Amino acid sequence: MLTIALPKGRIANESLNIFTTIFGNGFEFEDRKLILKTPQFNFLLVRNQDVPAYVKHQAADLGIVGLDVLEEQELDLVQLLDLGIGKCKVCVGMKNGEFLDYDKPEIRVATKMERIAKNYFSKKAMAANIIKLYGSIELAPLVGLCDAIVDIVESGATMRQNGLHVVETIMESSAYLIANQNSFIEKKSEILDLYYRIAPLVKKD
Ligand code: PRP
Repeated sequence: MLTIALPKGRIANESLNIFTTIFGNGFEFEDRKLILKTPQFNFLLVRNQDVPAYVKHQAADLGIVGLDVLEEQELDLVQLLDLGIGKCKVCVGMKNGEFLDYDKPEIRVATKMERIAKNYFSKKAMAANIIKLYGSIELAPLVGLCDAIVDIVESGATMRQNGLHVVETIMESSAYLIANQNSFIEKKSEILDLYYRIAPLVKKD
């Protein structure tokens, strides 16, 4: 039996569609339930950012989570497969007409992704004062809380509709199948069996 942590929302639905394609029907969470038990798997429905914790502590053997979240949390997890779903970019955004000024002694950056932002600006030898926020990041530069944001861009609509634009792309992200290191040893054949069933369904582009 494998336990798999899925991130609430579209990625969970798309992931369960993959299981339906492989194993047939029955991969649907009931109303508000957070556990789905099937004969072969237990699925857990968790917050996106919490998936690595469930897998790290082996509450789940496997998880599906964005590369951006893995990059931000830097945990020792086995990255098995890029599922090619949940594609997005992590970008630096500023108000329309503004660009990064590398001569500025310090830049104020609002973000949910502190580590990614910190690493990015330190590689650019730019002093960044990171302001941690939990959502609605695009608002911050509009009211003078920061000079720039580091945030997820998917369709680009949120930035566009708030008068922001992408000034630099830090990384491309998509959802990965990840495994706990011990589970990968203890349940290797089960995990690899699943891997070889999912891998051919992954769209390459
Ligand atoms: C994410 C992200 C952007 C938005 C990008 O926020 O932080 O705000 O989606 O998507 P788009 O490019 O398609 O407009 P989320 O919806 O998770 O809400 P949050 O601001 O509460 O984190």
